[in-house]
Formats: sequence, C-alpha cells, structure tokens
Amino acid sequence: MKGLILSGGKGTRLYPLTYTKAKQLIPVANKPVLFRVIEAIRDAGISEIGIVVGDTAAEIRDAVGPGDQWGVEITYIQQSAPLGLAHAVKESQSFLQRERFVMFLGDNCLEGGISPLIEQFGQSEWNAQIVLTAVPDPTQFGVAELDAQGQIIRLVEKPKEPKSNLALVGIYMFDQHIWEAVDAIKPSWRGELEITDAIQYLVEHGYRVFPYIHRGWWIDTGKKTDMLDANRLILEELTHTITGFVDRDSQVSGKVTIEAGAQIINSVVRGPAIIGEHTRIVNSYVGPFTSIYHHCRVEDSEIEHSIVLENSEIVDIPHRVEDSLVGRNVKIHRSPIKPKAYKMMLGDNSDVGIL
Ligand code: DAU
Repeated sequence: MKGLILSGGKGTRLYPLTYTKAKQLIPVANKPVLFRVIEAIRDAGISEIGIVVGDTAAEIRDAVGPGDQWGVEITYIQQSAPLGLAHAVKESQSFLQRERFVMFLGDNCLEGGISPLIEQFGQSEWNAQIVLTAVPDPTQFGVAELDAQGQIIRLVEKPKEPKSNLALVGIYMFDQHIWEAVDAIKPSWRGELEITDAIQYLVEHGYRVFPYIHRGWWIDTGKKTDMLDANRLILEELTHTITGFVDRDSQVSGKVTIEAGAQIINSVVRGPAIIGEHTRIVNSYVGPFTSIYHHCRVEDSEIEHSIVLENSEIVDIPHRVEDSLVGRNVKIHRSPIKPKAYKMMLGDNSDVGIL
C-alpha cells in the first residue's frame, strides 16, 4: 500500500500566517501538522509516500526532505494548478499506479489510533473506504448520507441543506477503480474536481465503499480557533519530557515539555504546555494549552492558551496574552518612544483585541 498526502492549494484562510508558508507546516504542539500526518501513515506500515505540492512546494520540500527522519521514502508530485482533491489524485497516477493507497489531507489533525484501520484496508476486498465523523456544522464539509444498514446512499460536497451531520474526514482509501472515477467526473460549481463526486461515482457504479465512523476528535486546521483547539487536544495527549534547563526559582507543574536548549528562568510554567528548543522564558508565566516554538523569548510577560511560532519575542507586556496565534519573527514589546500609543506592523487580515 502507498500513501498520498495533499499539500497543494493555498492556505488563504490563515492568511497572513500562510502568506509565506504552507498552512500544513504550521506547528501544533511544536510539530507541523504535515509531520503528524506523515507519522500516522508510517505507523500504518507504509513506507512509500507521495506529497502533492502546489505554490508552496519549495517550503514543503525544505521542511520535509527525502523522508529519512521517519524512515520513509517521499516523492513530491507537483500539481499543475489547485483544481481540486480529485484533480490532485489524477495527477498522482504515475506515482500510485495500480496499488491500493491511503490519502490524507495535509492540514487535518485526528486523534490517534487510525493506523490499524488503514492496515486493515490494505488486506481487504473493499474498493474504497472513507472516514466520517459527526460535526455541528456539516455545511463546511463533504457530507455522507447513510441508509439504515449504515451503507452510503449519497455524498455531497458542502451541501446547503445537509442530509446528515456526518462529515468526510480528510482520510480516504482507494484501489485502482478510483482512476475510472476521477476520469469520469466533471468540475463542480466551485470549478474543482471533487473527491466527493469521485466516491459518489464508485457508489453508483456498484463498487464497495466502506464508511467508517471515527469517534475521537478531528480538526481541519483552517482557522485560528481550530489551530488552538488542535493544540489543546494534542498537548493533552502528548507524552511530556523535560530536556531543557529549569532554574531553582522556577515552578513547572502539570504536563510540560521543555525541549533541548530551552531555559526557564524565575518563571512559572503550568501544563499542558510545550517550550521549544532554545526558547527562553524569563520572569514570566506560561499557562495551560500554550505552545511556544523554537528560538523564542518570553520575558516579564504572561501567556496562556496560545501558539507562538519560531523566533518571536514577547517582552514586558502589562496584560496577559491569551487565545492568540503569534506568527514567526514577531516582536511584541513596550515602546519607550513618546507619544504613548499602539505602534504596530500587522499583516493583512490580522485581528488584534486590545484592553
Ligand atoms: O477537511 C475535510 C474536508 O476537506 C472534506 O470534508 C471535504 O469533503 C473535502 O473536499 C475537503 O474540503 P476543503 O474545502 O476543506 O479542502 P481544502 O481546499 O482545504 O484542501 C484540503 C487539502 O488538500 C489542503 O491540505 C490543500 C490540499 N489541496 C487542495 C486542493 C483544492 C491540494 O493539494 N490540491 C488542491 O487542488
């Protein structure tokens, strides 16, 4: 069995954070979402993985490399344009050939334990398997309608009037019949070749498509609140270790990871939290559900329920930073320059809440 990860397209919803970087590379609990997807596929015993890339190909290749760090072999597949999930599958045919494969969306986070399901599909007679989960607002997703026996009747992409609350989670398994389906379908109203339509084709043509209902959590990391939710859930799940330095004046309690080279000086860190490599926390408070990535500095400040990306600094801030997603190389500090005023350089579509 082979693995396929879709990391093309544009991360428009998390703009400006994804302006220069693929949304799949934004870290959750200090690890890019895409790396978590690679690990899930590797854990199912798959070693040949194709990654579909688009405009952000260079950044993805730089971050992921040839796959040795996971013991897998990565092949990059350049999608000619972001024309839909089924289009991405179509352009991956020479890599996948006639093998069974599992496809993951590179921006989805899912509670562990899916690997046995993938292994099982590898040995099964099914033509396809989809993973569904109940969601509060199905209009945002592909939605499945099942009959009383739990078999698929219909799949609709982002329906205005959903027939069920079962959304397609970004994990799909196929055999070679998917090639017939992606060749047969036409672009949808949004101009994309939808994988949902390709699966609907399989159902209508008598192929066996097995719906599996996932009961754990699942997050499509498109927006800030989703990133914070995924961060919270993963921080709870992680096995935490302290490798960095904690001085005698600091208190670290709960589930906390302090990575190599990090320093906690005269500070309080309350887990679940993770402090990245070579990050310094000085005279500060880091509260639950916070992930601070590598080479950051938090000094004379308080932060909680937030994600901070690499090389950023939060220094001498009078109020606690909460529910925030701070990008790379950001500096938040007090300015001595008069007049007293907020002086900012914010990206397009930023959202700042001030006391
Ligand atoms: O998140 C689950 C949902 O993902 C499903 O419920 C939907 O049925 C499915 O169509 C998909 O919907 P989205 O609109 O959320 O897909 P998005 O455009 O965010 O793309 C998902 C991933 O696939 C993302 O990592 C980018 C990548 N992609 C997307 C397109 C359109 C590609 O690699 N190539 C593409 O052409």
